[in-house]
Amino acid sequence: MEMRFEELQARRESCRVYSSEKVSREALTHLVEVAHLSPSGCNSQPWHFIIVDEPEAHAAVVEAFDDNGLTGCPWGDKVPAFIVICEEKAQLKPGVAEHYGSQHFAQMDIGMAAMALCYEATSMGLGTCMIGTMNQEKLHKALGIPEERVVRLIITVGYPANKGEPRKKIRKDVSEVLSYNHW
Ligand SMILES: Cc1cc2nc3c(=O)[nH]c(=O)nc-3n(C[C@H](O)[C@H](O)[C@H](O)COP(=O)(O)O)c2cc1C
Repeated sequence: MEMRFEELQARRESCRVYSSEKVSREALTHLVEVAHLSPSGCNSQPWHFIIVDEPEAHAAVVEAFDDNGLTGCPWGDKVPAFIVICEEKAQLKPGVAEHYGSQHFAQMDIGMAAMALCYEATSMGLGTCMIGTMNQEKLHKALGIPEERVVRLIITVGYPANKGEPRKKIRKDVSEVLSYNHW
């Protein structure tokens, strides 16, 4: 079934309750294959994805959601799989890095790749939620992430428990965020 992007946009929502159905490694790998086609500053592709689908690594990610008492994902133990997105060193075009710093675009780039991943997941009937808070030290140790690479996002992935209609989107009125030709 073909789905217009607008419909996909309406369907995608942060999923925080999953069914216990496993997500195949093939499907998880496919999500990364799609995400890594995303645009990036100077085509620098400043990302590294770690698929977490085995119990030991899974438990470590759940533990790392606790960042000294703050956790954005208290429901992590019920999530079938995670995709951890780390920021890689960006090779920008000569001059651009000197002007803006080599990592100036990297977080935007990662955001776009993460978004692409989530939309592809939606189109496959999967649910996702981006988690932006985590304990870096625990994650680095557990997943062998090099010290200088920052984890920017963890995407939770699974089949949604709620098979019904998506929630109503809570957003500012467009008139608050849009103007024409002037702020
Ligand atoms: C950068 C980023 C970080 C986020 N971190 C968390 C988080 O730690 N925990 C969580 O439950 N949701 C997190 N979210 C999901 C947002 O809360 C959610 O996208 C927003 O409330 C809009 O709802 P929707 O995604 O269902 O449309 C994050 C989203 C983004 C883009």
